[in-house]
Amino acid sequence: MRIRVLGSAAGGGAPQWNCACEVCRRARADGTSRLQDTVAVSGDGAAWYLINAAPDVRAGILATPELTPGPGLRDTPLRGVLLTTAELDHTLGLLSLREAVRLQVFATTTVRTALTSAFPILPTLARYTDLELCDLSRSVELEGGLEVGRLTVGSKRPRYATALPAGDWVSALRVTDRGTGESFVFATCLPEWTDSFDDFLRGADGVLLDGTFGTEDELTGTTGRPGSARSMGHLPMSVSREHAARHPGTRFRFSHLNNTNPATGDDIVSDGEDPWTGRPLPDPTGGKCETRRP
Ligand code: MLT
Ligand code: MN
Ligand code: ZN
Repeated sequence: MRIRVLGSAAGGGAPQWNCACEVCRRARADGTSRLQDTVAVSGDGAAWYLINAAPDVRAGILATPELTPGPGLRDTPLRGVLLTTAELDHTLGLLSLREAVRLQVFATTTVRTALTSAFPILPTLARYTDLELCDLSRSVELEGGLEVGRLTVGSKRPRYATALPAGDWVSALRVTDRGTGESFVFATCLPEWTDSFDDFLRGADGVLLDGTFGTEDELTGTTGRPGSARSMGHLPMSVSREHAARHPGTRFRFSHLNNTNPATGDDIVSDGEDPWTGRPLPDPTGGKCETRRP
């Protein structure tokens, strides 16, 4: 299985366009910038799928050599997008994929309903491309030998959808390569570490965790704004690390970093990485890319 991080920031990215905080200043100054939460995954290196489609997904695709189009004029290795939430930072990039000849979008019924009603991005997209909507309520098989299992981990609705009913709003995904048996779990929006989440990730080779906040009171401490990490649907890294320590055979790393989170270190991913080797991609543009590599 091959995995590439296209973006590792929470909504807004780093630097955020209107933010002068310490992390955003540093990102402007030294190029430690992050696009928003999206990864690409493939079983065979030929068929690729995105997990989420951030608003800056175009820049992430251009910075990922594996997603280069060809050999035919409009051939692309990108087959589809798996959505873990209906949040804007995970879905706005769908509109930037409208040039695709065809596109599969996998999501729970709850998320597909939101993206058809309160925020009708799917019917809009269907006017531009041959859109195939696929149910992600149960396990799905993807081209290239991948299987994807799903667990509902949260109930937080996007702000635009507060009038919609409870449902499968926030998911963790477990992607397994049927050929090699390797598996990784994607859980960048994780409000609590429940027993069912613990069972879901058991035995996985790697887990990409919610790195929105380092600590429970980070947002208030940094910005003065009210709200604990957990009340915003994000278990802080300090708590996740304690749980992760009970799974010594699994490599845990963090993504979806909010720009209040100054964390650095081996367990934080960067854009362009393979999250399990930590290896950055060669820069195909020789540094003239839209995103700078750390
Ligand atoms: C979240 O991760 O909690 C959401 O994306 C918040 C937002 O940016 O609206
Ligand atoms: Mn988010
Ligand atoms: Zn900032």
